[in-house]
This record gives sequence, structure tokens and C-alpha cells, in this order.
Amino acid sequence: MESELSQQALVNLLADVPFVSRVLYLRSTTSTNDILKRMAADGAPEGTLVLADEQTAGRGRLNRRWVAPAGTSLLFSLLFRPPKPSHGAPHESPLQYTMICSLAVRDAAARLLEIPIGLKWPNDLVHGSRKLGGILTEISTDAEGAPFVVVGIGLNVNWDPSAADFDYPATSLANAAGHPVERGAFLRAVVEGIACRYAELRAGKPPVREWEAALDTIGQDVMVELPGERITGVAVGVDADGALLVRTGEDTRRIVAGDVRVRTRDSAP
Ligand code: BTN
Repeated sequence: MESELSQQALVNLLADVPFVSRVLYLRSTTSTNDILKRMAADGAPEGTLVLADEQTAGRGRLNRRWVAPAGTSLLFSLLFRPPKPSHGAPHESPLQYTMICSLAVRDAAARLLEIPIGLKWPNDLVHGSRKLGGILTEISTDAEGAPFVVVGIGLNVNWDPSAADFDYPATSLANAAGHPVERGAFLRAVVEGIACRYAELRAGKPPVREWEAALDTIGQDVMVELPGERITGVAVGVDADGALLVRTGEDTRRIVAGDVRVRTRDSAP
């Protein structure tokens, strides 16, 4: 049986993890992203982590809801404060943060549970063709105009979402591993991975090519829903910012947002 999460348990669990500066445990809240964005606007330091055992208004990309029964999952958000770009340099793509976090989840699953997790552009974590988690990256500015990035990570852990009323096939870490998963240990492994990859990013090593190699989407026939337009083609790679490159006959389209579906049966959204 796993030990329960609590404020003290989180503090102990993450005490010696670099990057983590402050932790807040909430038994139930609206959305950890919303709480952390408010804290960030009020000056919370980089490395603040907010975790909830239940969300009443959990959000995913494209305004979708993120739903998980209380106490079954990992639902948390992390705050990054990117340095101001040097004069004339472009702003960092917020997708860089999605990349380091999704690679860290993949690595933790391989190391602790020996299960392969696939990544779907731009933010889905899948096992086979079933979604087991997602990442919601939001960029904003504080009162001084300084940019901050909140990354929310939702992972189905110890419940079976395969029969849930979602419009995509879903699974969980426990389903994939075949046994219950200690949420605290998994959280720690993910956050350690993020800390390490973020240090690399700050040191000038972008994660984009490793992320591209990990994306199941590349090489697949895809259909992209954009406002007022539907594109079909082959996903051939990503550019330096993480935008998806889709070859449609003669053209290559650069996709920065939108709903991308791999054109096979029984695939996650
Ligand atoms: C997606 O699949 O579109 C992203 C899902 C992200 C869900 C997480 S749960 C913790 C954080 N708080 C939220 O409201 N959303 C993210």
C-alpha cells in the first residue's frame, strides 16, 4: 500500500531535489496550474511546486477537462522563470518546457517501472495507443512584466481509466506496470529528471532533438485540425522550437498548435 501524500510528506520527499524551492500540497483544489499562476504573479520563486490530490477544474490543452478520482493520480505544476533573452535574441519556445517534462516522465517510467512511454506531439504521454498523462504549459507575465512558465503534469497512476467516459482510449501507470505504483517515489524521480534537464537547458543544451526522436508522431500519417482548416500529411519532424513539420504533397506545413491525430484506428487524441 502506498504512503499518503501530505504537505510534510512532500517536503520530506523533495527536500534534497535541486531546483525545487517551495512545495504546496492541497487535498483538493480547482487546478494546480491556476493556483501556481496566481502564486507566480504574486512573486513565488522559480522551482515552486503545487500538487493536489484532487482537482475540481483540472484543465488540459484546447480547453479540455482533465479528470481523475481523488488520491489516485499525480496532479502537479511547476514554476519556471526563464531569464530575459539577451538583446535581439528570440524568446524561448514554451514547448521547451513541455519537452523536458515529458522526457523526464518517460525516463522515470523506464527506470522505476520498466515500462516504455511514448510521446505524442505536443503534450501527450502514451502507453501503446492509450493516453496515460498530459502536460499543460502556460506562459504569462508577472506585475514587473517578467515572463514565467507554469507546467502542469497530470498522470493517471493508481486507477483504471480504460472504461472512463473519455473521448480517447486511456490507461494508467498501474495498468501499464501491472501493479500499484508508489506516487511519491514516482513524483520524486520525475522532478529529479526535470531539474537535471532544466539545468542542461539553461547551460545551452536544448532538448529538442532528443524529444523529436522520442515522438511516436514522427513518420506517421496525421490529420491536423486547425481553426477552419484540416490538413493531412506525413509528420516529418519538428523544428528548433518544437513546431510539428507536416509534409502535404509538395508543401511542408509548420504546426504550432492544433489537434493532431495519427491516422490509425484506436489511437489517443
Ligand atoms: C492535456 O492532456 O491536454 C494536458 C493535461 C494536463 C493536466 C494537468 S493536471 C495538473 C495540472 N493542472 C491542470 O489543471 N492541468 C494540469
